[in-house]
Amino acid sequence: MSKSSLVLIVLLAMFLGACEENHEQIEVESPNGSLSLKFDVEGDQSPTYSLNYKGLSVIKPSELGFSFQGEKDLAGELDIVSIDEKSINEKWEMPWGEKREVSNIYNELTVGLKERKAPGRSFFVVFCLYDDGLGFRYEFPKQNGMDSVYITEENTEFRLNGDHKCFWGPGDWDIYEHLYTTSNFSEIDAQSYIPHTNLAQTNIPFNAVNTPISMITDEGLHLSFHEANLSNYSGMTLLVDTAELMMKSCLVGSNNHDYKVALKPPFVTPWRSIQLSEDAGGLIESDLIVNLNDPNKIGDVSWFVPKKYIGIWWDMHLNRKTWDLASGNHGATTEYAKELIDFAAEHNIKGLLVEGWNTGWEHWIGFEDREGVFDFVTPYPDYDLTEVAKYGKEKGVELIMHHETSAATETYTKQLDTAYALMKSLGIHSVKTGYVGKILPKGEYHHGQYMVKHYEDVLKKAAENEVAVIAHEPIKATGKRRTYPNAVAREGLRGQEFNAWAGDGGNPPEHLPIVAFTRMLAGPIDFTPGIFNIKLDPYRPNNQVNTTISQQLALYVVINSPVQMAADLITNYEGHPAFQFIEDVPVNWEQTKVLNGEIGDYVSIARQERGSENWFVGGITDEHARKMDISFDFLPKDQKYTATIYHDADDAHWDKNPLAYKIDTMEVDQNTVLPIKLAAGGGFAISLIQK
Ligand code: NOJ
Ligand code: CA
Repeated sequence: MSKSSLVLIVLLAMFLGACEENHEQIEVESPNGSLSLKFDVEGDQSPTYSLNYKGLSVIKPSELGFSFQGEKDLAGELDIVSIDEKSINEKWEMPWGEKREVSNIYNELTVGLKERKAPGRSFFVVFCLYDDGLGFRYEFPKQNGMDSVYITEENTEFRLNGDHKCFWGPGDWDIYEHLYTTSNFSEIDAQSYIPHTNLAQTNIPFNAVNTPISMITDEGLHLSFHEANLSNYSGMTLLVDTAELMMKSCLVGSNNHDYKVALKPPFVTPWRSIQLSEDAGGLIESDLIVNLNDPNKIGDVSWFVPKKYIGIWWDMHLNRKTWDLASGNHGATTEYAKELIDFAAEHNIKGLLVEGWNTGWEHWIGFEDREGVFDFVTPYPDYDLTEVAKYGKEKGVELIMHHETSAATETYTKQLDTAYALMKSLGIHSVKTGYVGKILPKGEYHHGQYMVKHYEDVLKKAAENEVAVIAHEPIKATGKRRTYPNAVAREGLRGQEFNAWAGDGGNPPEHLPIVAFTRMLAGPIDFTPGIFNIKLDPYRPNNQVNTTISQQLALYVVINSPVQMAADLITNYEGHPAFQFIEDVPVNWEQTKVLNGEIGDYVSIARQERGSENWFVGGITDEHARKMDISFDFLPKDQKYTATIYHDADDAHWDKNPLAYKIDTMEVDQNTVLPIKLAAGGGFAISLIQK
């Protein structure tokens, strides 16, 4: 057993009657010492870990372990057989993203454990302690007597030190497209949540939450629980024990077998992550999730160009056109696609998404027998794919391919080679995938091991073909974009489309101020902002977007994604002065600074354009109007900027007057402080162009 400067080991021999019991405790601190972790093995009990921040308990002693099919639980009766530690201090570069340079600084503790009695299984627990959080995982080495393991549950606990204010979505095994609820931990009741019925059959089998779940403690600490590097394993929901104030991992299962995960050692589990910050903004600025992933495995991805895009898409969600041809009102026609390419080319938009281009849409949603229906190489007769791709290329606009699989995974898997070969032949480097409906094969869930593998196989195959993936109905983001930077964005939340048809009032104004501190911590979001026709007239008279137009602009900065849609119909953009911001705003950043914010209330973010000195700022608020001062102290010294400020007019309101906005221009520098008013459901967007 080795001992080092980082690790403090306390060995206590306790005599309880006649039997001698070991109590071993290992302590490790984060690089600046603010966060400290204790790992404890006491007698025959399950090992525990606990976490303190500046002396304050964050996680009380919480058990670690597993249940297996046909074998006894891996819980207590363990000996510590090795202790290793190291300190890492490195930097790496994001090929695209919210910042260029990422610091990866942490102290790592690896504890080797072995069962004292038969079957004598051994495993490691690895803890990475950052100043802004903890990642830990289990590692199983190759060993005799353990050829395969069938995990029925991972028994990782997270015992809280109080009844925190929580921002949570129900632990659904199929979708993340629920509204968030704000409640104390003791009041979480995921099963009373009424699942949305428009989409895939949802399965919320327990009082559990999906991750990320974020919390504010009485002491004002901000916490977020999630996972990183989810690979060949099931997604983790967190079972909520409201009496014990404890969460416990609850892996997504399958109806096809009793176990939840099947693996052969050697293997590692995903990282369980706890992000922590005194201010809410620190959660957004944290790189913990990406840092817990392996470095880039696919090399140069310069073939993927971050871009804004428009689409033949909102037409369908507005019920103005259809995906299928049989309706007689087909959206994806050569003529319409060319019209959009012309518009994009004139307005600094480099991508065009065309949905409903391929055969099969007559038989997707609502059909049981969806295998063998969609075809990812055959366009409908009124859509000349080759011609559209060529026309776009000539005008500097690249197509974004669309593969709606309707969750018929076998059909998609079979066609991956031909589908990507077609894209390659047309010079198309990104695809939006979709998995609407119940997973086929039957009995599998979107977030179980079968699908985690499927999504990753698609990502790998796409990378081989120089294709970037924007997944809808995806598995959650867990930072894999570091390893596979062709994982550019995904849905995995209630996106803009719900405002068109949800029928439940749409996304309320507090939705995005929660998303920014929950879902967005996981990774880039394909939210599809930019709806100018807020009331959706005349197409969807009973639905609307619940923000002001200024907030729609702000979302291009607030929401992190290297692909951002200008989602509205181009007729709503033509000649509109506010569209200038969408035209100007970039999607790839040198650095990101959160200027202010509180979970569920408001947030303002400043981002510096990659490869330029220009900055862009976006701020959004919930249903409450607010006044705030925006300080431009992030600008470089002695440099003057022209600020163009798109903001809510005095009488703006998300419902009563959403289109009331103003554009002001002024000269600013590092010393300028701008007072700004946000309407209820409002926001602001600022471009700062260096003079
Ligand atoms: C659901 C996706 O979220 C949406 O963007 C898409 O238009 C439809 N599926 C059809 O693929
Ligand atoms: Ca969706």
